[in-house]
Amino acid sequence: MLDNWQMTRRQLLQFGTTSIAAAGVASCRSLLPGSRNNTGESSDNSNRVILPSTCVPLEEGCPLKDHAASRGLIYGAAAKYPTLSSDSELANVLSRECALLVPENDFKWISLRPGLHQFDFTRSDWMADFADANNLLLRGHTLVWYKSLPRWFQKEVNVTNAEAVMLDHIRTVGNRYAGRMHSWDVVNEAIAPTPTIENPWRPSPWLDWVGEDYVAKAFHAAHEVDPDARLVYNENGLWWDAPEGEAKKLAVLRLLENLKTQGVPVHALGIQSHLRGHLMDQFQPEKMRQFLQNVADLEIEIIISELDVRDTDLPDDIGERDRLIASAYSEYLAVILEQPAVSTVVTWGLSDRDTWHNKAGRKNDARPLPFDRNLNRKPAWSAISNSFQNAPLHSP
Ligand code: G3I
Repeated sequence: MLDNWQMTRRQLLQFGTTSIAAAGVASCRSLLPGSRNNTGESSDNSNRVILPSTCVPLEEGCPLKDHAASRGLIYGAAAKYPTLSSDSELANVLSRECALLVPENDFKWISLRPGLHQFDFTRSDWMADFADANNLLLRGHTLVWYKSLPRWFQKEVNVTNAEAVMLDHIRTVGNRYAGRMHSWDVVNEAIAPTPTIENPWRPSPWLDWVGEDYVAKAFHAAHEVDPDARLVYNENGLWWDAPEGEAKKLAVLRLLENLKTQGVPVHALGIQSHLRGHLMDQFQPEKMRQFLQNVADLEIEIIISELDVRDTDLPDDIGERDRLIASAYSEYLAVILEQPAVSTVVTWGLSDRDTWHNKAGRKNDARPLPFDRNLNRKPAWSAISNSFQNAPLHSP
């Protein structure tokens, strides 16, 4: 039955897991506490979608999405419009391996906004249609960020119009894709790299011109136009336990607690997880376990939203480097996937032929991702698939 079981992504989202359980689809995942009840009404938006494993029986050669789905998890990857629209090989591997797509740059202001009163949805529409055509869940990244703002922004936005400009952007973009989104990164990286209790905030035009409640206002606006989307607060620098890592975890917890107390519709925390292969000794499992549990105690879902392993400071030898990268994935995911509130793992790219590390890290020699430049599976792929297989079944 699973072979010809075809439910579109949107149907899946609309039906929710209750129907899928009724359909008897294997490896059904049940719901997070406080989510949709049997009548399908949502008490909040935290019900988790399950994507049944289509590779039955589950074997080594099955794609990553099936290894994830067999444990009640979603696996996906980021990709860019210029790459997906021109590299059919990579597009085919992504649609085979992934259950979810997050456009790496195509939903950012710099891509969507040619002018203060203009929108250009060419790239974002293409990516949303690609997701639909390939039955991929779609994550939007990101409605409000201090970076990747268009050139006109600093000249045309100021303290008098910033709130209206931000809300208009969220409502216009959110409304256009309403009903199609698995989740939105509503606000990205609002907490400072080294936050203090007195001032946890990262400098940002939104903070300066809208004020500290820009985060809450953004989430409310997104929920108004797309009540079905999971609304995510996305943050970097949480994976490690260097001093700033600890301070950041506390600041993010305080932010999430405040938002929940104010009744802000924040449904998930995105933990970016840009690991550094040479700094894994700064990853303290116990501290991460405690942090994840603190987030789960707020009834907030957890999405590993931008997972990759920077190899800039690892040995040049490819075999050794690949081994260390795979080891970093295994070590990190073993801890992460113990936490039932974790629903989704997204790698920030799928193949080394297209990774931001080719610019930010090793120049055109980076190997952070599950597939190499020739789209062959690497030790990192095995590390991720084994991590899924070894994970506890994700159900409440
Ligand atoms: O498309 C233009 C190209 O036409 C032009 O010739 C070239 C000149 O530099 O720039 C190209 O745009 C670049 C774009 O990536 C596409 O490659 C931008 O300059 C560059 O800033 C942009 O970088 C992206 C970065 O976010 C900033 O938006 C990276 O691809 C993307 O991986 C990175 O992703 C971020 C997440 O959004 C947030 N978390 C951290 C993560 C890594 O920095």
